[in-house]
Amino acid sequence: MIRERTASALLTLTFCVTSPFVFGQAKPVDAAGQPWWQHAVFYEIYPRSFADSKHNGIGDLRGIESKLGYLKQLGVDAIWITPCYPSPQVDFGYDVSDYDNIDPMYGTLADFDHLVNSAKKKHIRIIMDFVINHTSDQHPWFLDSKSSRTSTHRDWYIWRDGKGSGEPPNNWISGFGGPAWKFDPTTGQYYYHYFATAQPDLNWRNPAVEQAMFDVTRFWYKHGVSGFRLDAVDLLFEDPELRDNPVLDGKNEMGDPKTLEKYNDKLPENHEVLRRLRSVADENNAVLVGETYTDSAAELKEYYGAQNDEIQLPMDFMFCTVNKLSAPEFRRQIALAESTGGWPTYVIGNHDMERSYVRYGDGRHDDEIAKLMAALYLTLRGTPIMYYGEELGMTNNDPTRKEDVKDPMGVTGWPAYKGRDGERTPMQWTDGPNAGFTRGTPWLPIAPSYKKYNVQSESQDPDSILEFYRHLLALRHRDPALLEGDYVPLNEDNASVLSYLRRYRNEAVLVALNMSGSMQTVNFDLTQLGFSRARVKVLLTTLQSPPNTRLEKVSLEPFSVYMVRFSK
Ligand code: GLC
Repeated sequence: MIRERTASALLTLTFCVTSPFVFGQAKPVDAAGQPWWQHAVFYEIYPRSFADSKHNGIGDLRGIESKLGYLKQLGVDAIWITPCYPSPQVDFGYDVSDYDNIDPMYGTLADFDHLVNSAKKKHIRIIMDFVINHTSDQHPWFLDSKSSRTSTHRDWYIWRDGKGSGEPPNNWISGFGGPAWKFDPTTGQYYYHYFATAQPDLNWRNPAVEQAMFDVTRFWYKHGVSGFRLDAVDLLFEDPELRDNPVLDGKNEMGDPKTLEKYNDKLPENHEVLRRLRSVADENNAVLVGETYTDSAAELKEYYGAQNDEIQLPMDFMFCTVNKLSAPEFRRQIALAESTGGWPTYVIGNHDMERSYVRYGDGRHDDEIAKLMAALYLTLRGTPIMYYGEELGMTNNDPTRKEDVKDPMGVTGWPAYKGRDGERTPMQWTDGPNAGFTRGTPWLPIAPSYKKYNVQSESQDPDSILEFYRHLLALRHRDPALLEGDYVPLNEDNASVLSYLRRYRNEAVLVALNMSGSMQTVNFDLTQLGFSRARVKVLLTTLQSPPNTRLEKVSLEPFSVYMVRFSK
C-alpha cells in the first residue's frame, strides 16, 4: 500500500533555490585526470520496455533516441542498453545469433549509429551489453559446431561424451534449471550450457573464439560505443577435467540440488582474458563494466586486476544482498567495497532482480524509502548504475498465471520462482493508455501503479521520487565532494542511522539516512575531522520539520534523508 503524500511534505531543496542546474553543459565536470566513467551516472535500459516508436508493443532504438532529452535532464551520462543484437529472443536478447548487427525488432545498424550520434551531441555515452559467455544455438558458429565432430567450429563450444548411457558428462546444474548439458543426437555428444539449452557456452580455451569475440568489441567501438557491460563474466571457463561440483544440502530456487560451483565459476583463467580484453578497451578509451557475482572483498578486488588492468567497474552485487533497510549491514558492505582499493560500482536493481522499490519498501513508507535508497547509492564514492524506472518508483508486476510467463526462468521455476518479467515491465511515461509506452499492445502488462508513478505526473510534483532523483543527480554532478571525496563513515555504532562524509580537501558533504521507522536524534561531532560547524549549509533533505544546522542534535524523522555541506 502506498501512503498518500500531503502538501506539507514538500522537499526542502536549498540547493535548487540557490543554484542553477548544470544540465546540458558542454563539458563534463570531471577534474583533470579523472577517467570519464568515474564521474558518470549510468542508466540501464531494457530496450523492449523503454519506448516504442513503431507502436508494435516492443520498445526500439528510435524510441530510446526520442527519450534522450529526458535522460539528459535527469542527469544520466551513459546508457547501458541490454542486448539488442539479432536473437531468437529465447532469453530476450541474451541469446545472440549475430554479434555485428541490430535485431530488426529494435531497428537497424543505421538507427544505432543515429542514436549514438544524437546521444553524443547531448554528452551521453552508450555502452553495449556483451554476451561473452555463450551464443544462441542459432548462431552460425553453433550451427556449424553441431553439424559434425570435425566441423570448423566444433571446438568453439564445449562438447563431451556422456558418462554412461543417458548420463551427462558431470553433475553441473544450469542456472535456468535442470542439467547444464544437452545431448545432441547429430553427433552423439553433449554440449554445455550454463543458461538455457538455447544458450551454448563458448569455449574460451580456443584462441579463435577469443579473436572473434574481441573483434566484436572492435566492431562496436568503430560504431562509437564507449564500452561494454560484460554479461555472465564469472562463467567464461570450465574445469578442463569437468570434475563434479560438490553437492550441498537442500535445493535451489529452481528446485535443483544445491551445488558449490567450484569447477565452472570464477576460474583463474578468466583474468587472463579480461586483461587482454581490457587492452582492446584501453585503445578505445572505453570502459568495461562487469556482471560480477562475488562472495568476498578478495574476489571483487581480483576483478579490478592486479595492476588495475581488468574490469574498471565490476558491479558489487554483495551490496544488493542487503535486502532490508539495515544501517549496520549497509555500513559493512560499503566498508567491504572500499577495502578493495578499487573504484566501487553500486546498483540497487536491474533486469534480473526484484525492483528496489519492492525489496526495500515496507508497504507504508515506500516513497520515502525509495528516496532514501537513492540518497544512498547516488552519494557513495563510486559509479552508480540506475535501472530504468527506479527514478519513478516503478514496482514489480509479477505474472499471476503460468501461461502469462515470458521469462524462461519463470517457466521452469514456476510457481516457486515466477521469473523476471515483473521487473521488466514497460517504462511509465504518462498516466494515459499503456503509460505512454506504446499505442500497440505492450509485450508485458504495465504495472497498475503507472497512474501515479509516471514521468509526466511526477515532473509536476515537487515531492515526487523523480524530482528527488533530479535534484540529487544535479547535486552529484556539480559537487566535487560527491564526485571525488573520500568515504568517511560516521557514528559507526548507530543501528538506525547510516551516516558518512564525502570529504574532499577542505570541503565535505555529510549524508545522514534514517533507516528506521522511528524518530532518531543524532549527534555529529566533526571537530576531530577538522570541520567547523559555522558554515553548514543544507543541500537536500526530506525532513518535514525545518532542517537543523546544529549538528550536535539533529532530529531525523522516520526514513528521512539529510544532506549538508561544510567547508573548513
Ligand atoms: C545475465 C543476464 C541475464 C541473462 C543471463 C544469461 O545474468 O543479466 O538476464 O539471462 O546473463 O545471458
